[in-house]
Parts: sequence; C-alpha cells; structure tokens
Amino acid sequence: MDTSLAQRIELVKGDITSLAVDAIVNAANTSLLGGGGVDGRIHRVAGPELLAECRTLGGCPTGSAKITRGYRLPARHVIHAVGPVYRDGRSGEPELLAGCYRTALKLAVENGCRSIAFPAISCGVYGYPLEEAARIAFHEVIEFLRADTRIERVLFVLYDDQAFGTYQKLYSELVTSKKEGLP
Ligand code: APR
Repeated sequence: MDTSLAQRIELVKGDITSLAVDAIVNAANTSLLGGGGVDGRIHRVAGPELLAECRTLGGCPTGSAKITRGYRLPARHVIHAVGPVYRDGRSGEPELLAGCYRTALKLAVENGCRSIAFPAISCGVYGYPLEEAARIAFHEVIEFLRADTRIERVLFVLYDDQAFGTYQKLYSELVTSKKEGLP
C-alpha cells in the first residue's frame, strides 16, 4: 500500500474513548492501576475488567507500554504507555517519551492492529510542554510509518483547541510539507 504519510496520519479533536480503532493509547502511570485524566476516562468507559487485566501485568516502567483488551470501549485494545514526568527536558524525558510512542507502535503491529490513536502523552498532569512533546510524537510516528506499512492509520487525539492548534501547525510543517520520496 503506497498511501502517503498525510493519508495515514490524522488529527482528531475529542475524547479518545469514543474512537472505534484497533488500539487507543492510554497515558498511564507505572502502576497501571488507573488515575485521572485520560487514564481515568479510559478505565471508566472500559469497565472493571480493564483494571482486573491491568492488575495481572505487574506495572510498566516509564518510557514503555503494555497492551490489554479494550472491554467496553469501542477500541479493540488499550495500549498503556507510561510517559515521563517533565522536569527540565534534560533529564532523559525526550528519550523516555519517544520510547512510549515506539513501544506502542511495536505492540500495535505485534497484535495485528492497523489503526492506533494517541493522546498527547505526558502533556497533562506530567507537565510536558505540548510543542516539544508533539515534535517527538510526530518524529517517532513518521519514522515508524516510513519503515512499516502495516499500520494504516495513526490518529493524534487532542482534547482542547490549544492542543489541536499546536498539532495542526506541526502537521503542516512535518507531514504535508514533506513530498514523498524527497529528502
Ligand atoms: N481524550 C483525549 N485526550 C485527553 C482526554 C480524553 N478523554 N482526557 C485528557 N486528555 C488529554 C489531556 O488534555 C492532555 O493533553 O490527554 C493529555 C494527557 O494528560 P493526562 O491524562 O494528565 O496524562 P499525563 O500528562 O500523561 O499524566 C499521566 O496522570 O491520570 C494520571 O494515571 C495517570 O499518573 C498518570 C498521569
């Protein structure tokens, strides 16, 4: 399939739990036992079976991710990624955030997912500056999609206008401006 990057990356404004995609990514913590923000919302909609499965996973290190079923969510799977708490941007946060996106994409392919939706991992309670985090998200997704055609759709799901605007600016800079095949 030779669909261009622009056709494979989409921006969506809204609640990630409403998306009927193969996998939605959760912005979780190392315990994987739920929390607030998008984590709290995903557990609320998925129902108690999600927490029951999470309890069997033994947590997850920062910068990585683990996959479960989606239960009452329209999404088939939830990929629980644990983003870094932002300190100063020079304490390994960029590499850890990149690891969340890379691991989530790898888990998605390993579980036969062809569509995956990401929230802005670490950009809420964990305090990651939105544009810095979004650049990392775009970089990792573009790298992955260039190397692997098995993921057909990546959706970045933004919860407010400000976040959507930032992602839209980067989308124009990093995705639509790149002609396929040119350096
Ligand atoms: N759909 C999509 N995006 C959402 C939703 C939703 N329903 N709810 C919140 N968001 C957005 C926030 O606006 C923010 O941009 O998700 C982004 C991530 O914010 P958080 O949910 O606060 O996640 P994070 O910053 O990664 O902090 C993780 O918060 O909830 C706890 O258990 C979680 O300890 C962990 C920490």
